[in-house]
Amino acid sequence: MKKERVLVTGAGGFIGHHLIKYLKKKGYWVRGVDIKAPEYEKTPADEFMILDLRSWPNCLRALIGINHVYNLAANMGGIGFIHSHKAEIVHDNTLVSINMLEAARLNGVSKFLFTSSACVYPSYRQDIPEVTGLKEEDAYPADPEDGYGWEKLYTERACRHYYEDFGLNTYIVRFHNIYGPLGTYDGGREKSPAAICRKIALAKKNGTIEVWGDGKQTRSYCYIGDCVEGIYRLMQSDYHQPLNLGTDRMVTIDELVGIVAKIAGKKILKRYDLSKPQGVRGRNSDNSRLRKVLGWEPKTPLEKGLTITYKWIRRQLKT
Ligand SMILES: NC(=O)c1ccc[n+]([C@@H]2O[C@H](COP(=O)([O-])OP(=O)(O)OC[C@H]3O[C@@H](n4cnc5c(N)ncnc54)[C@H](O)[C@@H]3O)[C@@H](O)[C@H]2O)c1
Repeated sequence: MKKERVLVTGAGGFIGHHLIKYLKKKGYWVRGVDIKAPEYEKTPADEFMILDLRSWPNCLRALIGINHVYNLAANMGGIGFIHSHKAEIVHDNTLVSINMLEAARLNGVSKFLFTSSACVYPSYRQDIPEVTGLKEEDAYPADPEDGYGWEKLYTERACRHYYEDFGLNTYIVRFHNIYGPLGTYDGGREKSPAAICRKIALAKKNGTIEVWGDGKQTRSYCYIGDCVEGIYRLMQSDYHQPLNLGTDRMVTIDELVGIVAKIAGKKILKRYDLSKPQGVRGRNSDNSRLRKVLGWEPKTPLEKGLTITYKWIRRQLKT
């Protein structure tokens, strides 16, 4: 067992749960905290506390005896959810992030990771499908995703101030569309890969699925196994500025549907719903800095990661 004691917040959620599994394999003692237990599997954490981290006293409780913090807790979801819950997201996530940062400082924590998002990048760099990859410095001049993206950008800045003014070792990772098994796949908070896997799993062999937007919007996707490895590698580094964590293989939503349909062995037709939110028109990660800082980048092919994800979602749906 390693000597440092680790806290993962958002431990009842998708990435937090996978991260705890990874940290346990590395030999850490891990405390998980969330407002809910994991939905699909028992937590691998040594200790799991149900706490609402919007509350300051709860943040202090979560941090007792902790050396490293992976702060993942956030009220979030796919594009449908973040478009329609801006006030709630800004309120909840600002409280969680700033309370956790200050409580970490007061408790003498030696490392603090904040999970930011590609949603911090300005809309004016993402208004066509054929975008160039987003470099970390492209976040300014700021015009992030309304609500969710503004909180992420503000907390990135807060992390920098805590590093510079208080010497707290903060780490900031910007995820680009993380997907994999054990992620939300229905209920309104799911992201595009999980939503498409669910729709195709439920469709008939020559069925039709609804696609949000016109299918031409582009994204890049990163498998969960690469995500947790990247997080861990960053926490071993001495790099304290924001860092992309994603792949730089950009696909259209139409292509994503095509890949999943092939995995499922179905011929799928698409019905486009232009009234639904589709987010920015195009988004891709530029991984130059990631490669330079970590000497590594995500490597799981989209087809492989989606096969694992599709099979898991199909099992959940019992189709
Ligand atoms: N999944 C992605 O593609 C992606 C992309 C960019 C950024 N992120 C960030 O990564 C982190 C983890 O995301 P995820 O995909 O695992 O999401 P998730 O929704 O599965 O996990 C977040 C967890 O935070 C918990 N939480 C919310 N409010 C809380 C509170 N007040 N107190 C305690 N716990 C609370 C939720 O219950 C949930 O279990 C988040 O900060 C998210 O913003 C994720």
